[in-house]
Amino acid sequence: MKRTEIKSLLSIEESNENILVKGWVRTKRESKNVAFIALNDGSTINNIQIVADVNTFDETLLKKINTGACISAQGNWIASAGGKQAFELHAEKINVLGEADPDEYPLQPKRHSLEFLRELAHLRPRTNTFSAIMRVRHTLAYGIHKYFNDKGFVYMNTPIITGSDAEGAGEMFKVTTLPENNPPKNERGEVDYTQDFFGKATNLTVSGQLQAELGAMALSKVYTFGPTFRAENSNTTRHLAEFWMVEPEVAFNDINDNQDLAEDFLKQVIKYTLDTCKDDLAFLNKRAFEEEKNKPQNERNELSLLERLEFVISNEFERITYTEAIDILRNSKPNKKKKFNYLVSDWGIDLQSEHERFLVEKHFKKPVIIVDYPASIKAFYMKLNDDKKTVRGMDILFPGIGEIVGGSEREENLEKLKEGMKKVGIPEEELSWYLDTRKYGTAPHSGFGLGFERLVLFVTGMSNIRDIIPFPRTPQNAEF
Ligand code: 4AD
Ligand code: MG
Repeated sequence: MKRTEIKSLLSIEESNENILVKGWVRTKRESKNVAFIALNDGSTINNIQIVADVNTFDETLLKKINTGACISAQGNWIASAGGKQAFELHAEKINVLGEADPDEYPLQPKRHSLEFLRELAHLRPRTNTFSAIMRVRHTLAYGIHKYFNDKGFVYMNTPIITGSDAEGAGEMFKVTTLPENNPPKNERGEVDYTQDFFGKATNLTVSGQLQAELGAMALSKVYTFGPTFRAENSNTTRHLAEFWMVEPEVAFNDINDNQDLAEDFLKQVIKYTLDTCKDDLAFLNKRAFEEEKNKPQNERNELSLLERLEFVISNEFERITYTEAIDILRNSKPNKKKKFNYLVSDWGIDLQSEHERFLVEKHFKKPVIIVDYPASIKAFYMKLNDDKKTVRGMDILFPGIGEIVGGSEREENLEKLKEGMKKVGIPEEELSWYLDTRKYGTAPHSGFGLGFERLVLFVTGMSNIRDIIPFPRTPQNAEF
């Protein structure tokens, strides 16, 4: 007999005599004559109720049906007398596929702390919260591919191992097969990477952008969606050492087109997920609401998770320049009252997350796109404005998250790009392939990078990035 997934079973609202389900036991309640088993198979947040007549089943079998055990059950799908569910499965046959010793199984049918569950990353998808997050994460990823596909973008896989250290986005992880003890040395006494696997020093990529630019200069519209790695020692609720980045790159787009694309993209992907993951988001909405109660009054969100998501898709993002942002911050209450850890005085400083969150959460109360940053705090490839001081970079800031997107119009002029590289000490030889696009048929172009986990964080209403990726990689932590 074919197994029916719980998601489709729940949509069957008529009696059916021959239903087979398989899944993991969430809870079991026993009364004198019947056992009630809540079963989940991950196809939906919702469980089904299985009713088993204790007199027809072997006692040893019933004993094995514990939280965490995997079972199959066959029986009749019929209207339920209990008020909680419309239908339930009256079991005729039950098999225990995998036992879970109740004295050892660590997930009890009660609320566990997120910290505790992080230690159990291999089992936490069996909780409501994490299975909901995983389905929402999947839907966001699918929605992203769908968005770009519908718009005629080409999905481009950029390399994970890279020979250039040019992005300047952060510390990199080395990739080498040289022996740890006593690696070969050159005349200068340094490790001789010409003898390494690739004949040169290599790292894990921090971004697929530079290669995506090469693609855009032929295909016009490309995007990457892959893992990126940063070895910075940032132990925050927003940073991972291994995270996924979505990077569209578009020929002929200027910085305004770039903002339009990013805003439309974020709204459409969030809308798609709202429409697709109703049950999971309703659950996460309730969860976030409960969580809010533990926060001090002044830190609580005025809007619920679902209201925040609706708000983002139905309101225009605020667009301001860096200079305007600095003016607002300089004259802000927390700055005047010296409440910021980093006080804002001079033009040219890098914005800290406390500043970004003030702009988004307190001042504008909506997503904000900041453009025209000082050249000195942004990457070498960003297009210089006519003022020679600022570049056409943009960051998108989201409530509760801070920076979610970073991007720019790219410097397409060969000489200016070379100048920029010289300033930050990047040798031309290292990026000769990148410079070639400016040499041969260069074109204005723009792109951005979305931190996928930060989007998942926003959409699920969770507060720690370690809780929305299956197996987080952070400083001192590469378990599982
Ligand atoms: O702002 P970033 O560093 O931009 C780039 O890497 C560009 N090459 C993108 C481009 O123009 N194609 O990173 C982009 C986004 C950030 O806005 C943030 O959302 C996310 O990636 N991000 C991280 N997410 C999790 N953990 C980290 N350590 C992150 N660092 C950046
Ligand atoms: Mg950035």
